[in-house]
Amino acid sequence: MCGIIGACLSSHVCRNFVIGEIVFNGLLRLEYRGYDSAGVAVIGDKLLVKKGKGKLSELDARLDFKGLRGCVGIGHTRWATHGVPNDVNAHPHVDCRNAFAVVHNGVLENFVELKRMLQSRGHVFASDTDTEVIPHLVEEYYYRTGDVFKSFKEAVKALKGTYAILLVTPLEPFKIFFAKKDSPLIIGLGEGFNLLASDIPAVLPHTRKVVVIRDNWAGFITPSEAYAEDLASGEPVELVKYARTVEWSISEAEKSGYPHFMLKEIYEQPRAVMETVYGALRDRLITQAVELLVNAEKVYITGAGTSFHAAEHFSITGTRLAGKPVISFISSEYDTFLPGAGEGDVLIVVSQSGETMDSLKALRAFKGRGVKIISVSNVIDSAIPRESHVTLYTRAGPEIGVAATKTFTTQTILLTYLAVRLGEAIGQLDSGDKEKILGSITSAGELVKKTLEDTGGLARKLASSISRSSSAYYLSRGVGVPVAKEGALKIKEIAYVHAESYPAGESKHGPIALVESSFPVVFVIPNDSYLETLLLGNIEEMKARGAYAIGVGAEGSRAMELVNEFIPVPRAHWALTPITHTIPLQLLAYYAAVEKGLDPDKPRNLAKTVTVE
Ligand code: AGP
Repeated sequence: MCGIIGACLSSHVCRNFVIGEIVFNGLLRLEYRGYDSAGVAVIGDKLLVKKGKGKLSELDARLDFKGLRGCVGIGHTRWATHGVPNDVNAHPHVDCRNAFAVVHNGVLENFVELKRMLQSRGHVFASDTDTEVIPHLVEEYYYRTGDVFKSFKEAVKALKGTYAILLVTPLEPFKIFFAKKDSPLIIGLGEGFNLLASDIPAVLPHTRKVVVIRDNWAGFITPSEAYAEDLASGEPVELVKYARTVEWSISEAEKSGYPHFMLKEIYEQPRAVMETVYGALRDRLITQAVELLVNAEKVYITGAGTSFHAAEHFSITGTRLAGKPVISFISSEYDTFLPGAGEGDVLIVVSQSGETMDSLKALRAFKGRGVKIISVSNVIDSAIPRESHVTLYTRAGPEIGVAATKTFTTQTILLTYLAVRLGEAIGQLDSGDKEKILGSITSAGELVKKTLEDTGGLARKLASSISRSSSAYYLSRGVGVPVAKEGALKIKEIAYVHAESYPAGESKHGPIALVESSFPVVFVIPNDSYLETLLLGNIEEMKARGAYAIGVGAEGSRAMELVNEFIPVPRAHWALTPITHTIPLQLLAYYAAVEKGLDPDKPRNLAKTVTVE
């Protein structure tokens, strides 16, 4: 869950640009992937490595990454998996002779035995990381073959696990060698330079022309060339076939005047939802997905974190609008749901990054049993879409803030539209109902805009009270439950308030024991009179124990009189509850984090894309 970048400049370009600056600025754009330590290696007269524990800007002040000179450089920003965050375990890692420097994103499963083998051959290790075996392996092969690329490939073939690797060496001063399996890696194609990076935002300031590298490719870039071959077959890859132009603008990958990416991305939701609906209404793949679902014996849906909450929303709308039972499960628990799955079944995998390992593993396990895979993702050509039979894309644009916001609302609006089409195809949804929901879906962008206008100020005001609590409950019923869970996840991950969410009917079976005077309870009240009536009872029972009740519900809701504070959202179809009710919960969490002086974009212990199990 790290960010890696590499830059290869021609001598002409090199005269006008400082390699240290290019690598440093690229790492800044990848810092959401991990930020406990970082490092840079450049090839000038010789190999120079600078690295340490801490955030990039602090390290640059200490080590002057930006001042590094040369025409070839690689960099790494870390989220520790093997070896605690410290100066020695920071990347890049080198071999015994300081001839090869490597940065790596991923986890090597067989590094212990490789390390033992190399130590038995006299190699001396400096760190506790898995990654350090790579430069020593290359060193081992190099002194047998005298060929860097051959040695690199042999070393990569010896690895088990997940990896995106970059290697530089003064032995080939104008090349960066790369290899990829499961961890994301792209090439940024330029004039007089080429780049490698974990993600598109890192290369956008320099080029829009990218190649998404596939699993088991190994190759190298020079300032004027990019070369790759399939490690299994040894066959060269026609990279031009994979080149494509990215539509995203640089500003989309920058803060555009907002104090944090998270707040910017919250306020980008009207456009993101509108564009996602626009795309879905014209996407022929929706029809393919509906056909698969109509004919499916069993339908499963999965995801992790926020994407699981979107998946759960579909399991409710799929059942209520289409009468098709949908089994939802958290992707890291796929094993439990595998027995009984097989030919004739369909699994929907929801993942904004398209790289989450838990969800990728679930996909592969179900696919291995003949299950058809539909995925919903926000990053084109990422791993999960590449391994799916059908992929539906959200159009949220790059999401930099670690906390998912616009990707949740775009996932739920896309999945709600899919449920409507499924209901229509099965003949479960009568045309009147269909028109009503479709009307709400096509104007969902406006709905989000109004919700932001109506709730921004109130959410900010209420954030100060909830930010002072150490714990809280987020409760709802039916279609509101995934939204309440999402609200609880947001305030947990960025404001460190221990918020628990469960269906409100459960309170009296135990959780209410925790409630005492001014214990905050946030109620998500969907625009559904049956669920609202039930929730009024739950509000009463909590208030009777002294709870401080905050209600999020449609204007004019009967709950307004009962709760301590009420956040009114525009009245819309119950199936669009995630679109209206999540927004104030995102803002509540954001302002609570700011109130506590925390950085909402870089919450502790977390990273944006979780590429390990
Ligand atoms: C949500 O705010 C978190 N960033 C996290 O739970 C995230 O939703 C989860 O890791 C899944 O990521 P994905 O959508 O990229 O698969």
